[in-house]
Amino acid sequence: MSDLSAERIEPLLRGRLGRPYLHVGECDSTQQLLPPDSPEGAVATADHQTAGRGRRGRTWVDEPGAALLVSIVLRPAKASLAAELSLVCALAVAEAVEEAIGRPAGVKWPNDVVVEGRKVGGILLEGRDGAVVCGIGVNVNQTAASLPDDARAPAASLRTLTGRDHDRAASLVEVLEHLEAHYDAWCATGLEPLLQELARRDALRGRQVRVGNVTGTALGIAADGRLRIRSDDGAEKLVASGEAEVPG
Ligand code: BTN
Repeated sequence: MSDLSAERIEPLLRGRLGRPYLHVGECDSTQQLLPPDSPEGAVATADHQTAGRGRRGRTWVDEPGAALLVSIVLRPAKASLAAELSLVCALAVAEAVEEAIGRPAGVKWPNDVVVEGRKVGGILLEGRDGAVVCGIGVNVNQTAASLPDDARAPAASLRTLTGRDHDRAASLVEVLEHLEAHYDAWCATGLEPLLQELARRDALRGRQVRVGNVTGTALGIAADGRLRIRSDDGAEKLVASGEAEVPG
């Protein structure tokens, strides 16, 4: 099991995120670990969650010691723009995954990181006392047998993609560095500087999708983070949130 202890991680940190840094062996959910008055940049990780939380009330299952399970406190001035921040985080995770595996990683709007159609990571944003707790789960060293068996969202880990073990500490540091750079850019000028990179990694563009009661062809991510869909009736619709299902 690669070590995520403070002794290992703190010397590797180069930016603001990860200060303070807390690591535990086991917890309900890392989303609960940090006190409400934590400063921006506070990070908690765990080797195992007994009640890991996913989006839309789902559970997030891990294999002890095999996943990256991290929560980061952010205090953006515009906490209401969760759709944008979710994409900022997903882009950072996609870049870190890509560096680890040496193959393209995509962003599946609004918050999934996918490689070759398989989900490798997800983002959960939760508001708390004026802060946003940004939860990131990345499948790192799970075997195929220990990944969730979900036909709706087939999963992969860095290990199933490359056939070798990966260092969770290196992945954590990469995620924090990419996130800090993109988060700072987003705070300064919004999503605009990230749109080109998001478009390049857009896993839905050109695909037939269904989000809530809107079905049609995904056209891309709009400047405000909404998903553009050419709906089956020919009109262009902008969808702010939801789960994008890709039939078939
Ligand atoms: C999703 O794709 O549904 C989002 C999954 C988010 C999982 C992470 S793991 C670390 C943090 N703690 C949690 O309980 N959830 C998030």
